Amino acid sequence: MARILLTGIAVLDIINRVPHYPQEDEELRAIGQRRSLGGNAANTAALLAELGHEAWLCATLGDDPASVEIEHRLQARSVNTQALQHVADGQAPTSFVTLNAANGSRTIVHWRDLPELSATHFLDLPLEQFDAFHFEGRNVDELIRMLQGLEGRRVDQPVSIEIEKPRPGIEALFPLADVLIVSRAFARARGFDTAPALLDWLAPQSRAALIVVPWGEAGAWARTREGRALHEPALAVDSVVDTLGAGDSFNAGLLDALAGGASAEEAVQRANRLAGLKVRQEGFAGLAARFREETA
Ligand code: FRU
Repeated sequence: MARILLTGIAVLDIINRVPHYPQEDEELRAIGQRRSLGGNAANTAALLAELGHEAWLCATLGDDPASVEIEHRLQARSVNTQALQHVADGQAPTSFVTLNAANGSRTIVHWRDLPELSATHFLDLPLEQFDAFHFEGRNVDELIRMLQGLEGRRVDQPVSIEIEKPRPGIEALFPLADVLIVSRAFARARGFDTAPALLDWLAPQSRAALIVVPWGEAGAWARTREGRALHEPALAVDSVVDTLGAGDSFNAGLLDALAGGASAEEAVQRANRLAGLKVRQEGFAGLAARFREETA
């Protein structure tokens, strides 16, 4: 099992399950409501912790009740919270999620008014003690400072970076990752209709041993540094229940497998499996255990 440091955001998700997606200005009664830990890095960290890794989350939180709740939820899921950065008078980010029970789609309205993580805080951590590092691709200038500072302090611990949204200057992160995970949303925003087309564009800009592009129900495409192209099909899912955090689950499956020394093929297969199991169930409860049983 590995000691993995993840940076990104921690969020309070407030999830309304609804019978159909509402019309604008409609008044609709939810079938259920729950609060959950959210945020890409937080979701991935929680699954990695539940899979038996020592997962540390480095993210900012405020000092309001929602921040306290997020920290408790992280601890309840066995995430190490020692690397959190608390911002005085800060307010926790929240997401109001409309989860459509008819098709599992999740529509997220995200609110954030909290400073991003500082490189100074990150570089003060005992970085030498970690086996792997994972970064959410956000807060680009500061993230570049973190990665530059990390360079002199790591031997061969892998750096993975998730590129989910097109943000100004985000291409500067491409050459800095050993494992680059790039979303379908990013591909589409940049005008690529297929994962292979995106990979053709990314490969010359990266030195990554592995670039992975998850493409939902179509599976995931990947390319190795040597130019080997892979496609692994998604897990068959009869009924999609809840897609919230499916991408974060994919990342956890990938990082878990790579930490265990899996091949690129096997890592992408396992990432697909964890994401597929995720969309079959509501929330995350029991997901890691189910995945462990199925892959034992
Ligand atoms: C899902 C998620 C939610 C969070 C939102 C943040 O991937 O991490 O948990 O509210 O995205 O963008």
